[in-house]
Amino acid sequence: MCLFTDSALPTSSTFTMGAFHPLNLFLFTLCLVAIAANAHNITAILEGFPDYSVYNSFLSQTKLADEINTRETITCLVLNNGAMSALTAKHPLSVVKNILSFHVLLDYYDPQKLHQISKGTTLTTTLYQTTGNAPGNLGFVNITDLQGGKVGFGSAIPGSKLDSSYIKSVKQIPYNISILEISAPIIAPGILTAPAPSTSDVNITGLLEKAGCKTFATLLISSGVLKTYESALDKGLTIFAPSDEAFKAAGLPDLSKLTNADQVSLLEYHASPDYKPKGTLKTTKDPVNTLATNGAGKFDLIVTTSGDSVTLHTGVGSSRVAEAVYDSPPFVIFTVDNVLLPSELFGKSPSPAPAPEPVSSPSPTPSVSPSPSPVSEAPSPLAASPPAPPTDAPSGSPADAPAGSSENSTSDNAAGHVSAPLFRTVVFTIFVAVVSSVLLS
Ligand SMILES: *[C@@H]1O[C@H](CO)[C@@H](O)[C@H](O)[C@H]1NC(C)=O
Ligand SMILES: *[C@@H]1O[C@H](CO)[C@@H](O)[C@H](O)[C@H]1NC(C)=O
Ligand SMILES: *[C@@H]1O[C@H](CO)[C@@H](O)[C@H](O)[C@H]1NC(C)=O
Ligand SMILES: *[C@@H]1O[C@H](CO)[C@@H](O)[C@H](O)[C@H]1NC(C)=O
Ligand SMILES: *[C@@H]1O[C@H](CO)[C@@H](O)[C@H](O)[C@H]1NC(C)=O
Repeated sequence: MCLFTDSALPTSSTFTMGAFHPLNLFLFTLCLVAIAANAHNITAILEGFPDYSVYNSFLSQTKLADEINTRETITCLVLNNGAMSALTAKHPLSVVKNILSFHVLLDYYDPQKLHQISKGTTLTTTLYQTTGNAPGNLGFVNITDLQGGKVGFGSAIPGSKLDSSYIKSVKQIPYNISILEISAPIIAPGILTAPAPSTSDVNITGLLEKAGCKTFATLLISSGVLKTYESALDKGLTIFAPSDEAFKAAGLPDLSKLTNADQVSLLEYHASPDYKPKGTLKTTKDPVNTLATNGAGKFDLIVTTSGDSVTLHTGVGSSRVAEAVYDSPPFVIFTVDNVLLPSELFGKSPSPAPAPEPVSSPSPTPSVSPSPSPVSEAPSPLAASPPAPPTDAPSGSPADAPAGSSENSTSDNAAGHVSAPLFRTVVFTIFVAVVSSVLLS
């Protein structure tokens, strides 16, 4: 379990921003991850029921299994192999994902509760509602206790038929997860017609520009790394795209000083080969490899989770992962608040959060020079990027909210800042831990 040794526990005198040891924050975050570890594994549960093997296989392919495992109070409405095969034969994976996420109820319904619905009918929210693709109550399911002990399921859109019905209980772990078989897919208007471009039609730079990541898109084109991304699309790709604000952050090293090869590595570092939607990132325990990974443990990312928030650690700094701006399996784009700086290029620190080093030299020089000076003979793609305004922090950027004092920061890059709310949460939680350990001893 999670044990903070006495030496790892900061004493009250260290409860200041400057003296707070970032390693403790990291260890603590790891503990949060361990505490939040899944109570159930839907894939393993369903392995015991061959009638639902097709359903189980699609939960894995769409990575919905990971999302389900991060939830505590949930009901899965499963379809048998015949019903699933009929469904998946007709639709691409992205549509199948929408349909299946519509069959995951964010509440616990066991057979008993199904028959005790007050007034005999209710609307319940689904995982599909959480995707942000469901306007109004499109992401809700209507459960109605019909006469003769029959329970019907349908879309919550008024006038929808209840043409799916409860068949039997498959498995219950009260009150964490319930698995019930239903007779037919529940279809809501719009779910089947959801746009599902094939990966060859996807315009990566167009999507990035729309998401406020124009600088990143421009760099992908000028460096040629876009081609690498495109060729990885079919097999699955997850992009962590820094926002335009991230490239203007005070304290960001001068990226145009990198060699061309290093610039390519930096851009390749911002994508991972495989489809990893948010639920998958949340359940990831091993380091995540990237397109720049060229050996075990090289150019990878450590993922930590706290509640619904996912953070990437590079070994030099960290960055929050925002909601996906595009998610259609096998391709997902997230925006990130900071440029991800791999330790292979920007530092030698082995731990994801670098320990504060005695700073003998003055504070790190502002990284962005007012005029981009050509440093290498060859024109470098990053030098062509629009120069960011010298040292002024971007206003209104939440990532830099904690008065990004590079003077007082122990970290020398934009990605190193700990966000104020997270910091407060961690300090508070450690405070609680200290108080309870005192009370218990
Ligand atoms: C249900 O989930 C909670 C929280 O994750 C966990 O502590 C508990 O052990 C789970 N119950 C069962 C029966 O697995
Ligand atoms: C869940 O179970 C499957 C099948 O037994 C296994 O392959 C997978 O690693 C498990 N996932 C987790 C997070 O333990
Ligand atoms: C569920 O659907 C039935 C049939 O369309 C309808 O009569 C009932 O009012 C609906 N329930 C809710 C809570 O909207
Ligand atoms: C992709 O989108 C960008 C920006 O909207 C546009 O300039 C470009 O022509 C598009 N590329 C293709 C191949 O459609
Ligand atoms: C840096 O720390 C010193 C002493 O703790 C404080 O007086 C000063 O205001 C801080 N500067 C910034 C920019 O936060």
